[in-house]
Amino acid sequence: MKVLAILYRGAQAAKQEPRLLGTVENKLGIASWLKDQGHEFIVTDDKEGPNSDFQKHIEDAEVLITTPFHPGYLTEDVMAKAKNLKICVTAGVGSDHIDLNAAVQRKIQVLEVTGSNVTSVAEHVVMSILLLVRNFLPAHEMIERGDWQVSDVARNAFDLEGKVIGTIGAGRIGYRVLQRLQPFDPKALLYYDYTALPDAVASQVGARRVEDLKEFVSQCDVVTVNAPLHEGTRNLINTDLLSHFKKGAWLVNTARGAICDADAVAQAVKSGQLNGYAGDVWNVQPAPKDHPWRSMKNPLGGGNGMVPHYSGTTLDAQARYASGVRSILENYFAGKPQEPANVIVGEGKYESKAYGQR
Ligand code: NAI
Repeated sequence: MKVLAILYRGAQAAKQEPRLLGTVENKLGIASWLKDQGHEFIVTDDKEGPNSDFQKHIEDAEVLITTPFHPGYLTEDVMAKAKNLKICVTAGVGSDHIDLNAAVQRKIQVLEVTGSNVTSVAEHVVMSILLLVRNFLPAHEMIERGDWQVSDVARNAFDLEGKVIGTIGAGRIGYRVLQRLQPFDPKALLYYDYTALPDAVASQVGARRVEDLKEFVSQCDVVTVNAPLHEGTRNLINTDLLSHFKKGAWLVNTARGAICDADAVAQAVKSGQLNGYAGDVWNVQPAPKDHPWRSMKNPLGGGNGMVPHYSGTTLDAQARYASGVRSILENYFAGKPQEPANVIVGEGKYESKAYGQR
């Protein structure tokens, strides 16, 4: 059987650090296991354009492994060439780089290693909220520059205590974010999701649901985005919605870059409508050098907490999603049922309710 994996290149770091399992070099730790069973395993980071390894090998691969960190975009056109493809496995969480509707039509299964990195991301969200609200990055940059002017950074530093914080999406990550924020004594914790949390679960974190998105954002000092990217969330945060945010609110998005309109966010930060934006996900990955999110600043010169896509690929997370990929493949090879929570698209239908209301 031919198994194709599109992973990111780990270069020197992957040679020095074997726990960087999600790299081309370390091959999710499954290369010899696959080889011993007689499977052909192609691993590459070359994913763009018609002459890429991705497009060449997809033509006869039966299994495709991809990762959100270096997404191999499996569009309908590419799928049309993939005559043998039966199953796509996402090493991580978030399969929006695959045309899921086309996968349903072509009866190609799509699985994720559900839960593998949700704590990793939730921790990153809490860190990002704190670094924006407390104006941490400009303060640190001042120190590296050799300067010391407390008022320049204190003028835009606040406490998280007493703020209204809301999550768009209250699934595995969103809920973990709420749990981790509760001890900061916020004024309120809100969520916006078409799936309501059970009352007992919501009351454990003291979260209140707001059903209208504009009303939701207008109440929040901090908004964090924790919903998958699909037709209903693409460009959800645009110029119009941003005008309903509280002036000077902070926005953290570790879900997917394309949930936000990149130019609208950059403009909102520049004008001060947003006091800051942080996250690790971009509408194109790798992000071009001139992407506005790399350099945007609020009127006081701060408010940018952007990093490359790595919140869900800590070494702890890599161990979990690498072993999760292996379990999914073991089930597939043995014809055994998969863990239901891992199945996004089953044979010919959506099994997950998280990728939009259908
Ligand atoms: P989940 O499936 O447990 O929860 C997603 C929640 O979003 C569900 O409750 C769903 O009802 C809700 N939702 C869907 N569409 C919505 C909409 N239009 N408005 C409001 N809520 C909506 O997924 P999980 O594990 O919490 O992950 C969420 C997303 O986070 C992933 O799909 C992925 O895109 C992203 N992610 C990012 C990572 C990173 O490294 N930056 C790593 C892992 C996930």
